[in-house]
Amino acid sequence: MVPFGRPTRVPEELELVSQVLLGQTASGHFNRECDRFFRERLGVSYATMTPSCTHALELAALALEIQPGDEVIVPAFTFTSTANAFLLRGARLIFADIRPDTLNIDPAEVRRLVSPRTRAIVVMHYAGIACDMDPIMSIAEAAGIPVIEDAAHSLFGTYQGRPLGTIGAMGAFSFQYTKNFSCDEGGLFVTNNPELAELAEIIREKGTNRSQFLRGLLHKYEWVREGSSYLMADVLAAQLFAQLARAEEIQEKRKIIFQRYQTGLADWAVDQGVRQPTIPEGCDPAWHLYYLIMPSEDLRDRFLSHMRSHDVGAAFHYIALHLTPMGRSLGGQPGDAPVTEQAAASLVRPPFYTDLTESEQDRVIEVIRSFNG
Ligand SMILES: Cc1ncc(COP(=O)(O)O)c(C=O)c1O
Repeated sequence: MVPFGRPTRVPEELELVSQVLLGQTASGHFNRECDRFFRERLGVSYATMTPSCTHALELAALALEIQPGDEVIVPAFTFTSTANAFLLRGARLIFADIRPDTLNIDPAEVRRLVSPRTRAIVVMHYAGIACDMDPIMSIAEAAGIPVIEDAAHSLFGTYQGRPLGTIGAMGAFSFQYTKNFSCDEGGLFVTNNPELAELAEIIREKGTNRSQFLRGLLHKYEWVREGSSYLMADVLAAQLFAQLARAEEIQEKRKIIFQRYQTGLADWAVDQGVRQPTIPEGCDPAWHLYYLIMPSEDLRDRFLSHMRSHDVGAAFHYIALHLTPMGRSLGGQPGDAPVTEQAAASLVRPPFYTDLTESEQDRVIEVIRSFNG
């Protein structure tokens, strides 16, 4: 059996986690280490660990002070958290269709959907391959609208040399079980905007100025605005920090796995009319996942049964957001985002994880190649 996924793990995690469990570190020590690591590696002025990417997105929505009725443009092809964070603030979600090549939000759709009521544009870099950020940023800047990057898939991916998650006003990353770096549940919020950073720092500390107090800038801390608790447990930050020390090695392993799928399936894909991922020029992927676009929904379902019957894990996602029960209750209709609807019906994902061995991957490739639609 080759499973669909396994979390990334490194041997040093146990040592760092036990330092926290044994009380050998100061409170929040590994959170500060992770924050510093990300500030340096991503070149941002503010980075803070959160309990999940979902929470980092919620923090972004709170920092923007999204109000009921504000319109927020989100891709129709994404995970629910991208949309929920803004829905929770009462926003009116405007679902944008995606590009057929990268499955990322289509800048032409963003241009069409921007209105005087648009308060935010949210993008998601699918599979860790960058959205077409230049046109999106031009549209947003011309209209004075902030862009939020759901970078759940895209840690260490770049666009024209710039780290994904740092191009818009704010970025949100995930360290959930399936991600390249994983502490089971975890997230990261980043921004280069000092005002948003100041707001985020207060919101994440229950609406208090405790962070300034901890830096010695105040002699007491107080409740100063609405807030919540978006802090990561230090045990999880310790686990993550151990993995971050091996970031290059982990990314390199995943890059090799992605490239072996690309080359090992290329001729089979052409024969079968299957589409492999496109990597546009100037984009360096984060190597988060691998996917194939089957010629039809029927062939997708048959492919998944074929994989199951050969003991190889495989999965599909996402259900087009506007066609989910929630999306429909917000007015979504079939045909609103045709490219998303087609991708959602035909995408499959083979096993992809840091420690997928060469022989496991050979087996997966052999099973895939034996599928003849
Ligand atoms: C695109 C996207 N955004 C957000 C999330 C939510 O991340 P988390 O589970 O860390 O809250 C996910 C989860 O996998 C995701 O795929």
